[in-house]
Amino acid sequence: MSDTNTNTDAESVPGNGFPADIDASEIDVGERAESAVERNAKRTPRGLVLRVQDLQKTFGGIRAVDGVSFAVEEGTLTGLIGPNGAGKSTTFNCITGALTPTNGIVYFNGEEVTGQSPHEIANRGLIRTFQIARELEEMTVLENMMLAPGGQSGESLIRAVTPGLRADVVRQERAIRDRAWELLERFELDHLAGEYAGSLSGGQRKLLELARALMADPEMILLDEPLAGVNPTLETKLLERLHELCASGYTFLLVEHDMDVIMNHCDPIIVMHQGSILTVGSSEEIRVDEQVIEAYLGADI
Ligand SMILES: Nc1ncnc2c1ncn2[C@@H]1O[C@H](COP(=O)(O)OP(=O)(O)OP(=O)(O)O)[C@@H](O)[C@H]1O
Ligand SMILES: [Mg+2]
Repeated sequence: MSDTNTNTDAESVPGNGFPADIDASEIDVGERAESAVERNAKRTPRGLVLRVQDLQKTFGGIRAVDGVSFAVEEGTLTGLIGPNGAGKSTTFNCITGALTPTNGIVYFNGEEVTGQSPHEIANRGLIRTFQIARELEEMTVLENMMLAPGGQSGESLIRAVTPGLRADVVRQERAIRDRAWELLERFELDHLAGEYAGSLSGGQRKLLELARALMADPEMILLDEPLAGVNPTLETKLLERLHELCASGYTFLLVEHDMDVIMNHCDPIIVMHQGSILTVGSSEEIRVDEQVIEAYLGADI
């Protein structure tokens, strides 16, 4: 954990959209990116769910993440893009606790979560999707949903065998089952509830991964390439679900290489390159940004 972990109560304030003790101008993301962050904060006066300040992660001599600062507003489908090796996945891993940052601070809902375990961070409502593990492939889709992380009291044997508490456990298990079915219906996976997860297509797996993440009732979900290998029909479904979830208050940070998806669905878009933030902006702004075009070496964006 960094020695800069001193702030534990940074509340969001209306106005500039940054926590009271943080001056937006202090966030060192370079002149261009800084003004873009400020513009975004002014454009939508919603709360900042996630804020990352001067995040760094080194692996030996490699600076995978090299002083990254950005904020994500509530209810947005924010994109995080950049060429291969830009540091996107490492940034995700540092935010969700899978990796401990070399330096920097991560705030979730105004509270510092830097260096906490993935479990602690998930309990606060910040979660990333996980690939269906090998053991879970041999379980049904419904069982995968029921086993998703989410603080079930049914896991506790003591509670299950204590008179009086047992009814509580049964009630809770029923609620979990109801929630699982509700999500499976919403993701049009209910007809597959009894199938082994291992028999699902790539796209169906991605839908199940998102549905499982929602079992934990998070506020924010980080998605790392959720559309890789997904056919166009399921891709449309998944994107529709993401927009519905945003409209009901969930927040997403999406890493995706498909530029059409990013440009048509994400706002704002954060661009990383060689471990740093290049810029933050709307698709219109990103599309014509010289630095972004250069970073992608003229690839069609
Ligand atoms: N565990 C690790 N050990 C050593 N180097 C690593 C490790 N993880 C990532 N790196 C390096 O850090 C840099 C950033 O990698 P990262 O996976 O975060 O990039 P990315 O933007 O997610 O790339 P991609 O688009 O290909 O998924 C790369 O140079 C990568 O080789
Ligand atoms: Mg990656």
